[in-house]
Amino acid sequence: MSPDPFVLRAPRPADVPLYTAFLADPGVALWLDDRCQRPVLEVEVAAFLLGDAWCRWAIECDGAFAGVTGLNYPDHSWGAARFFIVIGRKELWNRGLGTAVIKAVVRHGFVNLGLRKITSDYLEPNHGSRVIHERAGFAIEGHLREDAWRQSHWVDRILLSLLRQDYLAAAADAAPGGTRGGG
Ligand SMILES: CC(C)(COP(=O)(O)OP(=O)(O)OC[C@H]1O[C@@H](n2cnc3c(N)ncnc32)[C@H](O)[C@@H]1OP(=O)(O)O)[C@@H](O)C(=O)NCCC(=O)NCCS
Repeated sequence: MSPDPFVLRAPRPADVPLYTAFLADPGVALWLDDRCQRPVLEVEVAAFLLGDAWCRWAIECDGAFAGVTGLNYPDHSWGAARFFIVIGRKELWNRGLGTAVIKAVVRHGFVNLGLRKITSDYLEPNHGSRVIHERAGFAIEGHLREDAWRQSHWVDRILLSLLRQDYLAAAADAAPGGTRGGG
């Protein structure tokens, strides 16, 4: 299925109550960090969305705010940052939006920001997250065993990364005339 058209734009004050409501939905928050497993206050969301951020975008789909993505924790001396994504409108899930967004953020990180490495992680039962990372070319670096408590169980956290050289090689291969392009 082709993803719904989307734009990535700077977060706005009007996004704050909408994102707070997304995080209050247990279906959205379940596989997010521990700090999202309790009520997240609007003031906290405002600081996150509107405070100083190096690469943080609102995802807008069908003209309406749909979630947040970007690259956190940049370490410029190491050339690395950590990918994150939250699509809060559940009716948009499983339509290819997450895959399209992760690819756009990764491209921006390597092509425009010049990163060397993008890291990420997901909790093992989060199959949608696993799929989008696979499709964007991330490789698994390891497991943090029993790293979070969800739904009455300890769950593992999967650590991933994508290196600039691997991204650029795959992009070249996928381009028309690339070694894997056109058969
Ligand atoms: C994780 C998330 C970003 C995925 O976004 P999305 O728009 O649904 O992603 P896509 O549609 O591009 O891809 C998801 C794929 O996972 C598959 N999938 C979802 N649940 C699955 C399951 N239980 N078992 C197997 N596959 C599953 C979907 O079928 C889809 O594959 P398809 O295109 O072959 O149908 C989105 O669900 C989300 O924001 N969730 C809440 C916050 C979150 O968990 N963020 C990530 C934290 S690491």
